[in-house]
Amino acid sequence: MGNNILLTGGLGYIGSHTAVELILAGYEPIILDNLANSKVEVLDQIEKITQKKIPFFQGDVRDEEALQSIFSAHAIQGVIHFAALKSVGDSVLQPLSYFDVNVGGLTQLLKSMQKFRVEKLIFSSSCTVYGQPTDGWAVSESTPLQEPTSPYGRTKRMNEEMIHDICQTSRLSAVFLRYFNPVGAHPSGLIGELPLGVPANLVPFLTQTVAGKRDALTIFGNDYSTPDGTCIRDYIHVVDLAKAHVGALGFETIPHHPEIFNVGTGKGSSVLEVISAFERATGMKVPYEIGPKRQGDVMAVFANAQKISEKLQWNPQYSLEDMMEHAWNWEKNQN
Ligand code: NAD
Ligand code: WQD
Repeated sequence: MGNNILLTGGLGYIGSHTAVELILAGYEPIILDNLANSKVEVLDQIEKITQKKIPFFQGDVRDEEALQSIFSAHAIQGVIHFAALKSVGDSVLQPLSYFDVNVGGLTQLLKSMQKFRVEKLIFSSSCTVYGQPTDGWAVSESTPLQEPTSPYGRTKRMNEEMIHDICQTSRLSAVFLRYFNPVGAHPSGLIGELPLGVPANLVPFLTQTVAGKRDALTIFGNDYSTPDGTCIRDYIHVVDLAKAHVGALGFETIPHHPEIFNVGTGKGSSVLEVISAFERATGMKVPYEIGPKRQGDVMAVFANAQKISEKLQWNPQYSLEDMMEHAWNWEKNQN
């Protein structure tokens, strides 16, 4: 058995950290990325951290020939499919692009995997499939899913369903990793998140504010029915998240049965708790103001992470303060 793993979207935020962890675990990542939301320089940074050369193909996951050239040149043992568009807000404005890239991309990938008999797939899913849970704030893999509230969320749900159906009549072994809120950056400060334009997500907006690129962070609502009135999420360090992919690759699934794992810490933190963790970790003050609720926001959700702990022996190592310290280190390295 070779160790070649194809990472679609492997130069992105989560893919780049996963490439590093795969190398540390003895795998050989091969990256396909069209640079829609990343830069080719990320490849040099991954190579700097790992001291390894990584085969890189610049191309689109919807392009049959691009996939063909990779699958013909390398004996691929498994695929981790990160490549997607991921902005909830954009997806409302441009739903067709999201169906094209996220649904069309997976369709082409599955066709090529079938043709080249590649039978292992790890899929980047999202806690967005749970919506606002109705029975407590912690969700397990068997919590009923809610109707998607955005085209982005719908593509993740459709992607899971597509893979599920393909598994019924094939030998495909699939794992869905439902990520909660990935934040932070590699402790080296060499790779991290590269948000385009004004960040929609909390932590990059917060670090850009402290760096002076934004005037103040707006907290979207402080009158929710939560202990301090602000929304609750399960923030997970991107390096811990990356390690979950290594665990998932080694997991033996039951035939015709995609396995689902929540990837979160199991602990909910409010927006105000994130801000104070940042201030404790860095000694910097966060200028913030209270604004109106953001339309479509879930009030509170966090992972029940028991299954991944038991079946993959995966447990997060980094605290919320570590996440903030590393996010800040990364921000300081940006100009
Ligand atoms: P990202 O945008 O940083 O990475 C995605 C990568 O895919 C980028 O490098 C981009 O250039 C590439 N890409 C996009 N379209 C492509 C295409 N058609 N062909 C080839 N490459 C393409 O995003 P990320 O945060 O690393 O997310 C990775 C995956 O995890 C996505 O599927 C996303 O939906 C999912 N996810 C992300 C989060 C999050 O908060 N970051 C949470 C849950 C799930
Ligand atoms: C976190 C919290 C905001 C910005 C999104 C996607 C989800 C998943 C992860 C991909 C919320 C609050 C934010 C700001 C704020 N991605 N906030 N001021 O909304 O949990 O999830 O990313 O699959 O699908 O929806 O993440 O980082 O946007 O928000 O107060 O300027 O911070 O209200 O409570 P979210 P987020």
